[in-house]
Amino acid sequence: MVEILPSLLSANFARLGDDIARMERAGVSMLHVDVMDGHFVPNLTLGPPVVKSIRKVTKLTLDVHLMITAADRYAPVFIEAGADQVSVHQEACPHLDRTLRMIQSEGALAGVVINPSTPVSALEEVLELADYVLVMSVNPGFGGQQFLRHTLRKVEALAARRRSSGATFRIEMDGGLGPENIADAVRAGCDWAVAGSSIFGSEDPETTVKRMQQLAREATAVRA
Ligand code: DX5
Ligand code: ZN
Repeated sequence: MVEILPSLLSANFARLGDDIARMERAGVSMLHVDVMDGHFVPNLTLGPPVVKSIRKVTKLTLDVHLMITAADRYAPVFIEAGADQVSVHQEACPHLDRTLRMIQSEGALAGVVINPSTPVSALEEVLELADYVLVMSVNPGFGGQQFLRHTLRKVEALAARRRSSGATFRIEMDGGLGPENIADAVRAGCDWAVAGSSIFGSEDPETTVKRMQQLAREATAVRA
């Protein structure tokens, strides 16, 4: 089943608990949390205390996306704060194999992320190890950017690779997704679709989530 993951980056940070409750009512099972350090990406967001506070108000799976250079240092801190799964950028991790194993040994699922300019081939040696692969469909750093269509080919390549190898990693997409292109992402092979501004920037976020879930279900039927 394809999951829609609301990205809290576009939620109202002064009323985060309310926005999370709305997403629970809409029926999501996972939330996406963006961590930015002002070095790896030109923006700053939130740290472990915020994840700890989120953890206290929801049982939903917390998917923490680290856009930071010091991933090895902070991944365990975010897991301790309540992250269920943590993804790190291939571009930021020189010892990717070690980093992914460390995340798993700390008790979380380990994901690896690639920027729009990074080829799938850069992941060749970690596809058996990673629990999930996150294909960025915008350049990371900000919500509300335009979807980069060439990234669909990378999702297709990963899905083909998964079929032929018997690997079990899930495929996540992040950036510029909304009702207009969710079907394209799902048909390409996306299992987890992150969406921020298209949900929280819409008039009725709950309805938008439900609409995206429905469109994803229909596209899954075509895929199968
Ligand atoms: C971008 C973040 C995304 C962001 C997506 O760097 O990783 O998770 O919240 O936002 P939208 O859906 O608005 O592109
Ligand atoms: Zn993200």
